[in-house]
Amino acid sequence: KLKVIIDCDAGIDDAQAIMIALSQEVDILAITCTSGNVDVDKVSKNVLKILEVCERTDIPVYKGAHRSMLGTTFEMPLYHGVDCLGDASDIKDPDMGLLKQTHAAQALVQLVNENPGEVVIIALGPLTNIALASHFDAEFTTRVKDIYLMGGCIHGKGNHWVSAEFNFGADPEAAYVVLNQFKRPVCIVSWETCLEHELEWEFYDRYVQVGTKQAEFMKKISSKIREYEAKMNGPFIACDPFAACAAIQPQIVLQETSVYATVELKEGLTRGQMVIDWRECSRRQLMCD
Ligand code: BDR
Ligand code: CA
Repeated sequence: KLKVIIDCDAGIDDAQAIMIALSQEVDILAITCTSGNVDVDKVSKNVLKILEVCERTDIPVYKGAHRSMLGTTFEMPLYHGVDCLGDASDIKDPDMGLLKQTHAAQALVQLVNENPGEVVIIALGPLTNIALASHFDAEFTTRVKDIYLMGGCIHGKGNHWVSAEFNFGADPEAAYVVLNQFKRPVCIVSWETCLEHELEWEFYDRYVQVGTKQAEFMKKISSKIREYEAKMNGPFIACDPFAACAAIQPQIVLQETSVYATVELKEGLTRGQMVIDWRECSRRQLMCD
């Protein structure tokens, strides 16, 4: 069975991604939590709520970074709600005692070292925990089997500040570390990919009405955003599930491009934007050096 670790900032679409992963024949070694959509305390609580409803509290959950590499934090109440799971009133609090005491970045290092070359990381939030793990242990990035992440936008029209996508824009330095330090290609599901594959609300309505308690949970956490989007005539865009699906069933990916990509770190309008070196200028320059 494929061994995966999910790093997330759950989040409604993170919840969808986790539930999809739980439905597949994979071995989820851990779920690691980071600040992103909301503070990591709420994220950890949300992950435990998701695992409780799916009856999978056997999966260890680790709390990680409270802040980005430079110390910033965000809240996304408009989309995800104040609790970051749609502010549904009747979801019971999870047993927080289940949360592991080890820091998420340490857990990442430990689990990858115990399973060298075997672990696929699915990253669904800002990349802070993963960047920290790669700083803790120089071999970390060589021992990960693959990393699939949702983040970055190709054309500079994202959903965060002027030209970034949220996961990269919320912690550009962490994204920079991950894109530049991994010894293996990093598989990126960009914001544009998610926009190109928006789903019909009819599909969503069928999907939350299949009559299971997981579907009921999904309906509760997403009903506010469903209402909001219906009013605004907006589509059903769920980004994180694409990264989870691509990691678990790579054959669903019909088109992929290998390019050198990095992240703009300078203060200003383009901070956090993914930069793609389509003409391989940086690589050529490196070769000349
Ligand atoms: C990303 O931002 C978050 O709000 C979502 O969970 C997703 O990971 C999309 O830009
Ligand atoms: Ca997310």
